[in-house]
Amino acid sequence: MKIETFELERTQSLWENTVEYNLTETGIHPLTLEELLDDRELRRLHAVRIGYGQTNGSIELREAICALYPGTDRENVLVTSGSCEANFVTIWSLLEPRDELVLMLPNYMQIWGVANAFQIKVKPFYLKEELRWQPDLDELTALITPKTKMIAVCNPNNPTGAVLSEEARREIIRLAKQAGAWLYADEIYRGAEFSGQETPSFWKTYEKAIVAGGLSKAYALPGLRIGWLVGPHREIADCWARRDYTTIATAILSNRIAALALQPELRARILRRNRNVLQENIAVLKAWADGRKGLFRFIPPMAGGMVFLKYDLDINSTELVTKIRREKRTFIVAGDCFGMDRRLRIGIGSEKEYLTAGLRRIGETLEEIR
Ligand SMILES: Cc1ncc(COP(=O)(O)O)c(C=O)c1O
Repeated sequence: MKIETFELERTQSLWENTVEYNLTETGIHPLTLEELLDDRELRRLHAVRIGYGQTNGSIELREAICALYPGTDRENVLVTSGSCEANFVTIWSLLEPRDELVLMLPNYMQIWGVANAFQIKVKPFYLKEELRWQPDLDELTALITPKTKMIAVCNPNNPTGAVLSEEARREIIRLAKQAGAWLYADEIYRGAEFSGQETPSFWKTYEKAIVAGGLSKAYALPGLRIGWLVGPHREIADCWARRDYTTIATAILSNRIAALALQPELRARILRRNRNVLQENIAVLKAWADGRKGLFRFIPPMAGGMVFLKYDLDINSTELVTKIRREKRTFIVAGDCFGMDRRLRIGIGSEKEYLTAGLRRIGETLEEIR
């Protein structure tokens, strides 16, 4: 089976550890165990026997996830190796070659790549900048046919940081119902809203809705590699069976730490800490962009550690990003990775001083070109 290169992940994998300033991350500066847990909890971790654990996720972790989704029981939940595995097993389980998948773009391009490799017919619907990164609902409606097997969204969205309006959300649910299609929502950025108001989940909006979440972004714990799927019992069981072929289980230590991180008090502390980082850093980014009159245009994100900017310079985005990486040892993502040239995705979740220094270097190259 042929699969196209996952440009976004591949370029990050190649360069993120070789530069001085990596501003490609869309999560928030990761926590350490010491910042997360107290001495008693740390000691209890030392005593965990490092076996396989439960392959669909520990009971304690699945119960903690259930608490985030009212009306859910443990069999509605599958713990996965990051949200990327949740995306992968869902597409693999629910869709067949030649099925139609109506997919939100721009997007983290994993579902796009996997679905194309599985010979699923991908029909994109676009978030429009002129609509403040909302979809054109007439365009979306026109794409739905009796052959539509799934509508897949990323909400809050990567790379735009947009959250679907209530009108768009209702229309997407209505269209999925009308077509009898699966409604799949990658909700990994839920909890990382600048306003502190959590984006409503698509879970339980319709009997064929399935959602993915995880700890990599809003919770600042990407190294745990913990994601999850929440869906109907039968489909969750099917996805679990597929996982026997992929990674078998998630790490037992990660299950333990994740279950602690999702306890209400600690969870609230993590989300508060991360929101503060985002609010401080978006101000840094705005001041930097405002200081370069006429160079950028962007719609401020509503969630996630990233800003998606349009620049007014006569240079291709991959070329520009490569130049900045080579000359300034600073790394950001080219709009080309999302099929949208003349744009840059800049991660704003890092420590303020680090972000400020990275932006300064990017600014130097931009001014030289201007
Ligand atoms: C929308 C989206 N989904 C899934 C992932 C993968 O997340 P994880 O690290 O939890 O596998 C990412 C990573 O950037 C993402 O942006």
